[in-house]
Amino acid sequence: MKTTILTVDPTNTQLNNEIYAKAAEVINTGGLVAFPTETVYGLGANALDGTAVKKIYEAKGRPSDNPLIAHISDISELYALVKDISPVAQKLMKAFWPGPMTLVFKKKDIIPKETSGGLDTVAVRFPENRVAQHFIAACGVPIAAPSANTSGKPSPTRASHVEFDLDGKIDMIIDGGHCEFGLESTIVDVSGDVPCLLRPGSVTLEMLKEIAPDITVDKAVLGKLNEGERPKAPGMKYTHYSPDANVTIVRGSVDKTVKEINSLLEEHKNENCGVIATEETKDGYNTKNVLVIGSRKHPETIAANLFKMLRKCDYYGYKVVFVEGFPESEIGLAIMNRLKKAAGYNIIELN
Ligand code: TXA
Ligand code: MG
Repeated sequence: MKTTILTVDPTNTQLNNEIYAKAAEVINTGGLVAFPTETVYGLGANALDGTAVKKIYEAKGRPSDNPLIAHISDISELYALVKDISPVAQKLMKAFWPGPMTLVFKKKDIIPKETSGGLDTVAVRFPENRVAQHFIAACGVPIAAPSANTSGKPSPTRASHVEFDLDGKIDMIIDGGHCEFGLESTIVDVSGDVPCLLRPGSVTLEMLKEIAPDITVDKAVLGKLNEGERPKAPGMKYTHYSPDANVTIVRGSVDKTVKEINSLLEEHKNENCGVIATEETKDGYNTKNVLVIGSRKHPETIAANLFKMLRKCDYYGYKVVFVEGFPESEIGLAIMNRLKKAAGYNIIELN
């Protein structure tokens, strides 16, 4: 299959109406289109067409018990898809939609089992990115979309990442530039009496608590589950985000972290090692292989660059990677959740 890549202007969606019309035609004839959102690029199909949705699993190599998120371009599109929208769900929608938050509701029959992974719930997101909104609206149907990466690899935050993973396997990529937040959406299950955080993201737990003070946190958000335990978001059980390298997180004060990573570099001096560092620490390492992920003073820059840096580790062929750890508050909870998975929970705590 030939993958068509079409570039749109994210600042002026009116300019590219013919591109959105072409993308809608692909979707409405059962094809796959990758598109940007403010979190990561998604790989979209018509969420109401089980046969089309199956192609997503094939292109990504994704296990079919891992359900997809249905994306909408207006809140009015929600009511046809889900039942029982609780008062707290409405408050969360009012506070954070459109934006980087996904809500899990009881599903209506219109959602096929391919989209919901056989569950009786469905995850729905109303993205803020204008290209995403314009694309979904042009299609006229909800768009089922996981992150547009090969299963297990870091999520794509650039059209070039999608091309690298999926060229020849999907019909079209809409290139709308880089993704603002760079981490997948926060997922909150609002299908029960008490909301539950299933995956942390740029809508932080602190922000959610202001709207829903009794929110609970699924155990899979915080660390590795024991044998036999199941995360509530099926996708949280899979290894994720992993570069080919063996990744170790080192966390402690800035000084101790740099010192420890330098001694690890010495220990592994016969291997191709890389360090994922910050603006504040980048000059402290005894190697040239330093990738700067962002600034500790502005953790949102770390979130935005995280997947790009993990992909770079493969590009440079690093076999061993040391990455600095961060405090698990605010956006740090989402950053560490992704890093821990990338590292297979391999973490050295210094304090
Ligand atoms: O930011 C995002 O959420 C991106 C963009 C494209 O919207 N999408 C994304 O999709 O990250 P994906 O498939 O990579 O991750 C979706 C997660 C998986 O862990 C899946 O198991 C969970 O959402 N999920 C989907 N439907 C669910 C449901 N009904 N109940 C619980 N978890 C669900
Ligand atoms: Mg994903």
